[in-house]
Amino acid sequence: MSDSKIIVALDYPTMAAAISLAKQVDPNRCKLKLGKELFTRSGPQVVEQLTAMGFDIFLDLKYHDIPSTVAKACRAAADLGVWMMNVHTLGGPAMMTAARDALANDTQRPLLIGVTLLTSMDEQTFQHIGLTGTISETVLRLADMAEQSGLDGVVCSAQEATTLRAQHGQQFQLVTPGIRPAHSDTGDQHRTMTPPEAIDAGSSYLVIGRPITAAQNPMQALEAIETSLA
Ligand code: C5P
Repeated sequence: MSDSKIIVALDYPTMAAAISLAKQVDPNRCKLKLGKELFTRSGPQVVEQLTAMGFDIFLDLKYHDIPSTVAKACRAAADLGVWMMNVHTLGGPAMMTAARDALANDTQRPLLIGVTLLTSMDEQTFQHIGLTGTISETVLRLADMAEQSGLDGVVCSAQEATTLRAQHGQQFQLVTPGIRPAHSDTGDQHRTMTPPEAIDAGSSYLVIGRPITAAQNPMQALEAIETSLA
């Protein structure tokens, strides 16, 4: 297993494209995140192939369903050999605890991470669906609930990392997307942080997609990020 803090987001529609990128980076120097599009098109086979190439896989399927269904989905993901997986904290404590229990007997247990509120949710949508309080209060409350339910950490913005790190201690995993190396294109991300800023803020793992995957030389882009963190 690599000890890299960099998780490369493989947001590709096909297994061929995902494997092609994976061949250009070193499994000892990064981990890979697979999401709903790639998994829905390519299925467990893509996880198996990338695992066989030596990569640690974060299966980003954000499970949210009744507790027994989520528990069985988490069990299936663990059986695939993934390193990290996630569930929606809005599924509540019973769902999260069931997920955690489904993994409890594994000797090499995958990390189980909670998604709090999606960053695509704005105040207007938040109110419209009937949630009360503010978005930031809700994120903190859901992160507390995740920890109390036995989850290993949460996905959060690097902006939230300082507060969450202070409240949850060093063992709680903070997985942060929205990372942009200095001078790189922010694209559709808004409140970005550079890799060193995010680590300083308390991030455990940095999810980085296009700054690596769209680079002419992905391994060079990865190395430049490593250098900035050294
Ligand atoms: O290419 P980029 O670095 O923007 O990719 C970021 C990855 O992190 C994408 O897979 C995106 O879906 C994911 N993500 C995010 N913001 C969140 C949660 C996940 O950008 N709040």
